[in-house]
This record gives sequence, C-alpha cells and structure tokens, in this order.
Amino acid sequence: MSSLYATIRKKRDGQELSRAEIDQVIEGYVGGSVPDYQVAALLMAIFFRGLSARETGDLTEAMVASGDTVDLGALPGVAVDKHSTGGVGDKTTLVLAPMLAAAGCTIAKMSGRCLGHTGGTLDKLESIPGFRTDLSTDAMVRQAGEIGLAIVAQSAELAPADGLLYALRDVTATVDSLPLIASSIMSKKIAAGARALVLDVKTGSGAFMREPDAAFALAQAMVGIGRHAGRRVVAVVTGMEQPLGYAVGNSLEVAEAIETLRGAGPADLRELCMTLGSRLLAIAQPGITVDDARLRLAHALDSGAALDRFRALVRAQGGSVAVADRPHQVLPRAALSETLAAPASGYVAAIDALGVGEAARDLGAGRQQKGDTLDLAAGVVLKVRVGDRLAAEQPWAEIHGSDPARLRAARAGLERALRISAAPAPSPAFLYGVVQPDGEELRFV
Ligand code: URA
Repeated sequence: MSSLYATIRKKRDGQELSRAEIDQVIEGYVGGSVPDYQVAALLMAIFFRGLSARETGDLTEAMVASGDTVDLGALPGVAVDKHSTGGVGDKTTLVLAPMLAAAGCTIAKMSGRCLGHTGGTLDKLESIPGFRTDLSTDAMVRQAGEIGLAIVAQSAELAPADGLLYALRDVTATVDSLPLIASSIMSKKIAAGARALVLDVKTGSGAFMREPDAAFALAQAMVGIGRHAGRRVVAVVTGMEQPLGYAVGNSLEVAEAIETLRGAGPADLRELCMTLGSRLLAIAQPGITVDDARLRLAHALDSGAALDRFRALVRAQGGSVAVADRPHQVLPRAALSETLAAPASGYVAAIDALGVGEAARDLGAGRQQKGDTLDLAAGVVLKVRVGDRLAAEQPWAEIHGSDPARLRAARAGLERALRISAAPAPSPAFLYGVVQPDGEELRFV
C-alpha cells in the first residue's frame, strides 16, 4: 500500500497532515509519480475535513516551491501587490497601481484574464491599442525598476502545482473549499515576490463569497498564510451587490478608470482605491498611519502624478499613450448601442451585480469558456446607482455590442437585474471591514 494511501486515509479521518506528507503529495503530483485519482480523493477529503491554518500555510508553501519565484528585492521602494477575489466592473487595479507607484511603492504585478461574469485586468489593458501583456518576468522586473510599475500576464512557471490542482478541482466539485481557494490565490501572490499585499475580498451577489461571514473567513485564511510565509498582508472585505462604478466591459472600464485618474470618475471606485491603497501603504511603510496614507494617495490622484504613472505604464508596454487624454477616441467602440428606459418611476432598490456581469459577458465582454475571443468594446454602462430616484422612461443603462441577438438577450437580462421601489431605498453596504496582518478583525457593518 503506497504512503499516499495513508495520507488520504488520515485526512479522510479528520487528522492533521504533516509538512512532509503535504510536500510528498505536491512534489509527486507535479513530478508525475502521484496519479490524478489519489489527488482527487485527497482534495475531496480536504473539502469535507478542511485544513488547519498550519496545513494551509504548508500547502501554500509547497505550491510556491513547485515552480519559479520572482525576486523583487533589488527594486527601489517597497514591492507591493494587490489582489481582488473578483467582481463586476472591478477596474481598481488600473487606478490603484498608478496611485501606489506615484506614492513611492513599486508594483511588478502579474494579473489574470476574465472567466465567467467577473472581469480580468489583462483583458481590460489589452483593449488599449498596442498594449502588450506578454512580457517575460525579467522584462517585468526591469520595467518596474525603471518606472515603478508593470502589469503583465501570469507566468505559467509560477506555482505550477496550483494550475494542476485547480484543473482537478474544477472537474471534481472541490473548487468551493476555503483552504483550497486561499492557498491557490496566495501561492501565486507569494511566488510573485511582493513583500506587502492588500486583498480585496468581495461579498454579495456578484462575488465568489456571497455571505459576509464567508468573506471574512476567506480573508482570515489568506492573511494567516501571509503570516506563515513572512509577508505583510491586510484584507479588506467590500460589497459587490451592485457593480463597482458605472462601466462593465473592457474598453468601457478603461475609460472610467482614466476618468478616475483624472480626478473625476465614480465616487465608489475612488473610495475603494483610497481604502485599499491606504491600508496597504500603512503596512508597507511602517510609521505611516492610514490617515497619512490617504492624504498621500489623494495627492497622487489630484496632482496628476498617478495619471502620469499610468501614461508611463502604457508607453512602456507599447500602448497608445493618447488614451490617457482622449480615451473615447483611442479605445475601440462597439458598432451597436441601445439605451434602456426605466419601466416605472420610483427609487433604484437593486442593480444585481451578477445579472449585470452576465449580461456584459453575453454581449462579448467576458468568456463562457477559457479561450473564447472577447469583444473588447462590448459591455454595459449604468446611468444610476442603488438609492437614486428614477422617473418613468428615464435612461438607466446603455448596452454596447456588435450582434443584435446578443443585444436583445442582454437587454432582457439587465431588465431582470433592475428593481425599482416606491419607497426610498438604502445604498448597499460597501466597506464591511478589515482583517489586519495579525488577524485582528475590524467590522464596520
Ligand atoms: N481564484 C484562484 O486563483 N483560485 C481559486 O481557487 C479560486 C479563485
């Protein structure tokens, strides 16, 4: 009987695995000596029995050790990074990364593509004509040293065990396991080299973790992994009941991010960038309070310094720099667009983020399956937020796309996402709380 059998049985019976047992599974699986069926059985045992904080940390470290790691130690400033568990209209990285660079941090960031109803930073950036994301790791580090900022495609050489395990989880109904999600996300972040990291853990209808308690538990697990690995990690739990900002879809979101970098833009997007950025600066640069950090970041935005870093990023990665000044002329535009009019007067009581994300995906802004081609100009632009007053027939959304049948389907989906009430409706909670690097939990809702 193989020792893997004993490891599976141990977890099946609810016992803790040792570091050596975890290493043996990961090394054997990546090396090809451990078969899929044994790892699948172990994943299912983990799904039901869970992992302790120590096991979760050890699993993450084993996944990090399965591939290359990026050394950002020689870069000027503190190397920082940011991760979002995924939302609808979430263009935060496009605004926050230049703000942090303007505030003296260095960001050499690896990002992903969209899948399902949530967007991906790489697809958004690639809607800027000429923008390249396929830089080598060496080129990414060099660029971050020169201009403080680089955003490139996730390298397959980092945490390859995560790619293998994720594919197996996907077909064995074991994706939704908190320690497996936490270790998967954190293995890629730790391998990517940043010393300080802010996590935006979303909760609500458009999020992976719908319930706030589940979002806090995921936040705690990831912050705990950071402690285990000697990284400074802070998590912020934020609402995703309605989309972030107004624009959902790649080039539409880039235009909105640029507006925000120019000092305008939606208030919720600016506030999220200020919150995440100030929490990150306060752990990255000891001696700076969250309030000091907010002032510094507001200056980065209002002085134009963050927009300047965005220009430098676009120039360095081959994109059309004019996008920063004339986004609507430079970015691709959809052939067709339609306006949706309110069916009745009242107050906006809900704009379901999941419904809007699915409508944008169906217009071509997102992928149903890995490898699907995107329509980078497609998507939705909302005109209202929850709590706003609406008159009958008032325009409340625009849809953009290239296919009349897809526009019809998206219109029907969006109409289901809007709820109007006769009485004034409260805005959904936005900032649920923070998990500090030492695990202290601050709840604001
Ligand atoms: N994102 C990841 O990278 N991994 C997961 O397991 C889930 C979401």
